[in-house]
Amino acid sequence: MQFAQSGTSAARRIIGVTLGIMTEPVKLPDDKEPVLRVMPMPADANHTGDIFGGWIMSQVDIAGAVLAGRHARGRVATIAVNAFQFKQPVQIGDLLSFYAEIVRVGNTSITVNVEVYAQRNPEEVEIVKVTEATLTYVATDKERRPRKVPPLPAAGARGNPA
Ligand SMILES: CC(C)(COP(=O)(O)OP(=O)(O)OC[C@H]1O[C@@H](n2cnc3c(N)ncnc32)[C@H](O)[C@@H]1OP(=O)(O)O)[C@@H](O)C(=O)NCCC(=O)NCCS
Repeated sequence: MQFAQSGTSAARRIIGVTLGIMTEPVKLPDDKEPVLRVMPMPADANHTGDIFGGWIMSQVDIAGAVLAGRHARGRVATIAVNAFQFKQPVQIGDLLSFYAEIVRVGNTSITVNVEVYAQRNPEEVEIVKVTEATLTYVATDKERRPRKVPPLPAAGARGNPA
């Protein structure tokens, strides 16, 4: 889903670029589908009105696990959060899209990069990249022991395996 840029925001961008104070507007990735979309509610906010980092982390963990679980064809457990960056605050009512990509597959582990974009202000839609993280999951069997996973898919097929 992509929102058209309104006349006002286009004009603002032209002025901003002319003055050298703005970069190109952020767009949602058009070559892949989000594995998760969710809108945070007031109960997910902290006392300053922004969304709790812990809430965002749990959603990122879910998004990464969706892709890792698809690839592993079964249960996975998060073993590590390798990197996590809150790039911009998330606001109540932002529509968050989580894009996940497998970046490494080992014997039993799958490492996933997750990028999160917020769409806000429906009257004049703005897209902001709010979070980026890398997490590692381990495929587990019924006894919760690590089990072997299929090899890394070819480049270009890593975003959303069926
Ligand atoms: C996941 C679990 C079953 C793995 O068991 P383990 O005996 O620790 O596993 P191993 O040491 O054999 O490592 C398994 C894989 O994880 C990788 N791994 C281990 N520690 C890691 C780390 N800190 N960062 C990235 N990868 C790591 C290993 O390299 C190995 O990958 P490979 O098989 O692809 O080479 C176990 O650690 C566990 O149950 N942890 C708790 C999981 C959990 O509760 N998560 C939160 C809720 S989902």
